[in-house]
Amino acid sequence: MTETLSPAEAGKFAAAMASVAEIEDGMTVGLGTGSTAAWMVRALARRAREDGLRLTCVPTSDRTAGLARALGLTVVGLDEVDRIDVTIDGADEFDGHLRLIKGGGAAHLREKLVAAASDRMIVITDPSKDVETLGAFPLPIEVIPMGWKGTEARIRAVLETAEVDGRDTALRMAEGKPVITDEGNYVIDAHLGRIGDPEGLAAALADIPGVVEHGLFIGLCDTVIIGHPDGRHETR
Ligand code: 5RP
Repeated sequence: MTETLSPAEAGKFAAAMASVAEIEDGMTVGLGTGSTAAWMVRALARRAREDGLRLTCVPTSDRTAGLARALGLTVVGLDEVDRIDVTIDGADEFDGHLRLIKGGGAAHLREKLVAAASDRMIVITDPSKDVETLGAFPLPIEVIPMGWKGTEARIRAVLETAEVDGRDTALRMAEGKPVITDEGNYVIDAHLGRIGDPEGLAAALADIPGVVEHGLFIGLCDTVIIGHPDGRHETR
């Protein structure tokens, strides 16, 4: 199987396989979004089928919900469960304190809500997401469409005094139109290069009128499983 995959995909696959080994019968599982999470959803559906696991799954995007349903998993909304045992999701970057940047797939609002409702969050990645300092990956910031230009100006004002190397921001576009999230919002990507104080920036961004959620995940991730192209994995 893994011989046909690129090294990055093989790493994602290895991490996904290791993560679903942690799932037990009867669990409620949060399903992340992205290519790594999609490997996990496929592996989880297979495990559930082969091992007869009865699982309840809470997806973090319409994409993931569609995939999970198509593979026969039981999918419910976040408000239909009291708690989630474990959420398994990808990330765009993680550092030594298990702080994350997420939202490359514009799903970080639902991803954060599901992670926050979970007893445990496992992040699955290939080695390329492992960074000394967060910030090379542009930070996604979900904003309300109404007045987004003013919100972007307020974000830029916050960045003026933030410990970052770059301060460019851009509305995320696809095919000439703003990207719309599953919750009907826009995404502004902040090109920061380096985030010296993730906690401080997270708090400052959360305080801006018009910002719905940013992609800094702090204090949410419990475990990172890094999959390697040769099929090995390591846990942090
Ligand atoms: C989506 C996310 C993804 O988890 C993140 O972008 C990683 O994606 P991939 O597994 O495709 O590299 O945060 O909003």
